[in-house]
Amino acid sequence: MRLRAVLDILFRIAIIGVGLSMPIWLYLAELRPRVLMHRAGDDLRALAAACDQALRTADASAETRDRLDAAQASRLEHALEIGRLPCKRYAALTEQLLSEGVSRHALAALRLAATADPSYPDLRAGRADVEALDAHLRVAARLYGLAPLPVKEDVPDPKFRLGKRLFFDPALSGQGERSCATCHGLAAATAGGAALEARLDVSPEWLPNVPARNVPDLWNRDHNDVSAMLWDGRLQALTTAGQGAFVLPETLVTGRFENLMALQSVRPIFVPVEMLGEPGASNALAPDAAGTPAPEAVLARVARRLFGDDARGQSEAESYRALFRESYGVATADEVRPSHLGNALAHYIEIEFQSRDTPWDRYLAGDLSAISEDQKRGALLFYGIGKCAVCHSGAIFSDFGFHSVGVPDRRDEKDLGRVYATGMPGDRFLFRTPPLRNVTLTAPYFHNGQAGTLVEAIRQHLDPYRNARVYAEDGAHLMEPAEIDAISPILASHALITDDQIELLIDFLESLEDRGAGAMSR
Ligand code: HEC
Ligand code: HEC
Repeated sequence: MRLRAVLDILFRIAIIGVGLSMPIWLYLAELRPRVLMHRAGDDLRALAAACDQALRTADASAETRDRLDAAQASRLEHALEIGRLPCKRYAALTEQLLSEGVSRHALAALRLAATADPSYPDLRAGRADVEALDAHLRVAARLYGLAPLPVKEDVPDPKFRLGKRLFFDPALSGQGERSCATCHGLAAATAGGAALEARLDVSPEWLPNVPARNVPDLWNRDHNDVSAMLWDGRLQALTTAGQGAFVLPETLVTGRFENLMALQSVRPIFVPVEMLGEPGASNALAPDAAGTPAPEAVLARVARRLFGDDARGQSEAESYRALFRESYGVATADEVRPSHLGNALAHYIEIEFQSRDTPWDRYLAGDLSAISEDQKRGALLFYGIGKCAVCHSGAIFSDFGFHSVGVPDRRDEKDLGRVYATGMPGDRFLFRTPPLRNVTLTAPYFHNGQAGTLVEAIRQHLDPYRNARVYAEDGAHLMEPAEIDAISPILASHALITDDQIELLIDFLESLEDRGAGAMSR
């Protein structure tokens, strides 16, 4: 009897217990997974979209790989790997949710919703936390070997002061009316600000075969990566080491020039459309109207002119006489060699126009707050699915290789690009990848200034065939078949970058701007 009564009581207690714990059971089985899904929903959605986007990019890039050289292919692999980083976090998060009772069905439904959303949520929509962004960027930095750009010490030695005086001196031009700064104006951070260089008016015989181009900026051009200069690389260092291993379009003894930039720094002085002007009696630097002016002769006349009319408001210490003497130990104009002019100009340019103290360099040096969250998202796109760093690689954001991004040329005489340097038909319409530091200050963009804004410049990369079917004013196709064929296979696969992501890329490019350069242009 007793036993039955006890059992009975125990049974009732158990029933009541089960009854009372019902909400808890219900919570564990039904509500908790829902709450968890709700909390993780936004992250999950963004990660699913980012991962899906990366997988589609990888798919689209699959067949381009065999058309790339080894270095490009390995950078493409890095880009795809960085793009796939959200997939790892997506997998980890879904694993965790499954173990906590969330159903596979609910996860699949969310993934479908995220990747089928017409607005295709990007990394901005994802609230992927800052730590995750920093962790992903650490992977990017390791894969690409990113490090802050070293800065050269800023000593205003005589050679620097000489180069500076030369850079702004119109005495370097035939008619005494333009200097380097006429085209490489500081107001546009040394890039001029116009679509095309302002050429001098000369008779047709003095016109070069290369049409007028957008003036490139001069930032960080002494960096070891700079193996080629000009949009087509007509000026090139054949080996990384060694003097004299230079290729240039004119005949000039190159032995004593310190680097490529030193050589390029004297070229405009003897090119008629750039600074020399029409040769003839009225041209102090090229008085002989017949025959191509010899570079050495023009540069010797420049030196004599500089010494001859030295005073021009300068103190004795800043006179050319004193500056040449202190820089090179030369006493007379006749001792001044072309390389003295070139090396001094290059020395000024390399010290004055080096990007210092950019937010991106500070970030790479370990200051995680140096750039904003959006800039971090932009950086991940740049190194990841944007595939930008496949070409804009290294510390100054160029592989110094030659590619086409399909920029149209509306002029009668199209710019043929790299072929001017090599003569090889396969090099038609290829241009050197431009470095990108301070690019926010150097509009317009591309070899012919075709893009007025960064948005336009980036859109051109994402849709390089957009002009392939456009007609020019005369009714012919704007682009020749060879121009369309030249478009880089790296870009050719359809890009899945949204407008919001273009803005993030621009946010990142802003982190490459240094304050000094910005101040120059104000
Ligand atoms: C008429 C305008 C003009 C003047 C004046 C001028 N430049 Fe340039 N500069 C250009 C253009 C245009 C290019 C690119 C040409 C090309 O790609 O064929 C260029 C290219 C350069 C480059 C190569 C940059 C690179 O990354 O490829 C350097 C360095 C340079 N100029 C320095 C100078 C110096 C130094 C002076 C003065 C002695 C000077 N320039 C005068 C228009 C000018
Ligand atoms: C296939 C190599 C390649 C890839 C990938 C690439 N670029 Fe470029 N980029 C170039 C070349 C080449 C030019 C110059 C084209 C011309 O002038 O005809 C250029 C020009 C630019 C310019 C204009 C710079 C100036 O000074 O005129 C910007 C900005 C730029 N790229 C940004 C990007 C961004 C952002 C990405 C990623 C979405 C990217 N690029 C991907 C090769 C590449």
